[in-house]
Amino acid sequence: MSRLIKKILADKLSPEELNEVISGFDIIGDIAVLKIPDRLLSKKYLIAKTLLDNVKSIRCVFRQVSPVSGEYRLMELEHLAGEDRTFTEYRESGCRFYVDIAKVYFSPRLSGERLRIANLVKDNEVIVNMFAGVGTFSIVIAKKRKTTRHYAIDLNPDAYQLILKNAYLNKVEDRVTAFLGDAGRIIEYYLSGCADRVLMPYPERALEYFPFALKALKEDGGTVHVYLHVKSKPIEEVIEEVLPKLDFGKKFVVEDVSGRVVREVGPRIDQVVLDIRLERLES
Ligand SMILES: C[S@@+](CC[C@H](N)C(=O)[O-])C[C@H]1O[C@@H](n2cnc3c(N)ncnc32)[C@H](O)[C@@H]1O
Repeated sequence: MSRLIKKILADKLSPEELNEVISGFDIIGDIAVLKIPDRLLSKKYLIAKTLLDNVKSIRCVFRQVSPVSGEYRLMELEHLAGEDRTFTEYRESGCRFYVDIAKVYFSPRLSGERLRIANLVKDNEVIVNMFAGVGTFSIVIAKKRKTTRHYAIDLNPDAYQLILKNAYLNKVEDRVTAFLGDAGRIIEYYLSGCADRVLMPYPERALEYFPFALKALKEDGGTVHVYLHVKSKPIEEVIEEVLPKLDFGKKFVVEDVSGRVVREVGPRIDQVVLDIRLERLES
């Protein structure tokens, strides 16, 4: 798609401008979301209209006005062209998702990572997704691994409603249970000791919530996927730096840890994931 968009905008922007627009460009269902650098703002309607007129699958074009912020990780949007709606249907890995990009966090850029985790999961696993958004990780895994069970938590009531709808949409509602509330409290009240695997896809607060991930794990241990934003550096150095910051408590010991860069999120800033396998500490 980015090649097509480059071609469409080639006679409207310089090669350098084109690269800037492409790197901040997402398509979610039939909605295009653009990050437009300040010096190109005078061309924002031209860019939006050109995309709308030339890419059949795009029906609405928005500009991301603010960075993602707040507890619900939302961004401010400005409507530029096409239909003025933020609700759409997005497809990924054979699943369908209803998304409202103004009301919930959503990134198509995590699709590869969601599939990677789905491929790690074994039969009959119980998986807690502490920061589920619209349920993407949980539903992609549930659809691919038919015997798995999922608890998908989010603090945002709109995200919670969409987890419920998306679980039905993908016919996995019998194996995906949604919880509305703070992940820490939900785990303490309902999900202690239940999980083989815990997902923490909220880089800004994963370290702080790590003790709750441990609480969710089964007595014998399991795997925690911790997502973080870090300065770009070799992943071995990231692991060396992060591990001492994690409090593993008295119950578990690290059996294995590996990491990878998921994507670049800013100039020299990466989103990384650490896959940490824990086992019970024999006393
Ligand atoms: C980065 S997004 C998650 C992305 C999602 N996993 C995906 O694949 O698209 C973080 C999510 O955590 C939710 N959140 C923030 N604080 C929370 C908390 N204390 N407990 C549970 N969910 C929380 C936000 O509402 C947001 O939907």
